[in-house]
Amino acid sequence: MNYSELLAPIHQFLLCPTPQAWIKKAQQPEQLAVLLQDHLLCELKAAQTAMLLLRKYAVDKAGSMALLEWLKPFEDFAYRFIGDAASLRNSVKLSRDLAGRPDVPYSDDIIGKMVLLIREELHHFYQVLEIMQARDIPYRNISAGRYAKGLISACKTHEPQILVDKLICGALIEARSCERFAALADVVDTELSQFYLSLLRSEARHFDDYLTLARQISKTDITPRIQHFLRLEADLIQSPDQDFKFHSGLPV
Ligand SMILES: [Fe+2]
Ligand SMILES: [Fe+2]
Repeated sequence: MNYSELLAPIHQFLLCPTPQAWIKKAQQPEQLAVLLQDHLLCELKAAQTAMLLLRKYAVDKAGSMALLEWLKPFEDFAYRFIGDAASLRNSVKLSRDLAGRPDVPYSDDIIGKMVLLIREELHHFYQVLEIMQARDIPYRNISAGRYAKGLISACKTHEPQILVDKLICGALIEARSCERFAALADVVDTELSQFYLSLLRSEARHFDDYLTLARQISKTDITPRIQHFLRLEADLIQSPDQDFKFHSGLPV
């Protein structure tokens, strides 16, 4: 499948493209450090979100512990400045199989999709870090932008709606990331451009994985809920935003 075929469903799904003003700002060489630092942390957050869903809804206690162990070296790096790209290289794979909780329908399906997704996000984390190290861009634990918080804070607070809402938010974040990688690929240097295009393939599938799970789990048609989050997402992307980050709004 070529890139335009991968992107077509993403463009159809999202209500608006990334504003030109954001792409113009992202092109400025002085923004590259913040873009990569934020991207690195987004990859970790994507893995953490998927892991939280797995631990809360799909795996038993032993599986939950194995998942925490898997993430630890990456969190040690991000929050405690321990390790580097070389030390994380062998931590991308989960060392054991996870069993689904017998009382949870779809638990094996959730595990299958989410374990693969986490492995890919951790591999992306490692790849971003390698690029930063090669370019002498230091790692900084920078604050998160408003985007993901804005979506998550609109999630219902009761079960099972909260899970469905979080899966829809996951799909939106993945889809927007994909759309931004494609937009950035046109305006950055060849090495970065190839890297962003390589990420398109996995992020495009992640978006669909989240939506499929949301539809499986929900007892009702989730179309109105998806529309609600799509409008909110488009507003976060199109409204003025002081803080320039990977998913930020219109630069001011
Ligand atoms: Fe990723
Ligand atoms: Fe992803």
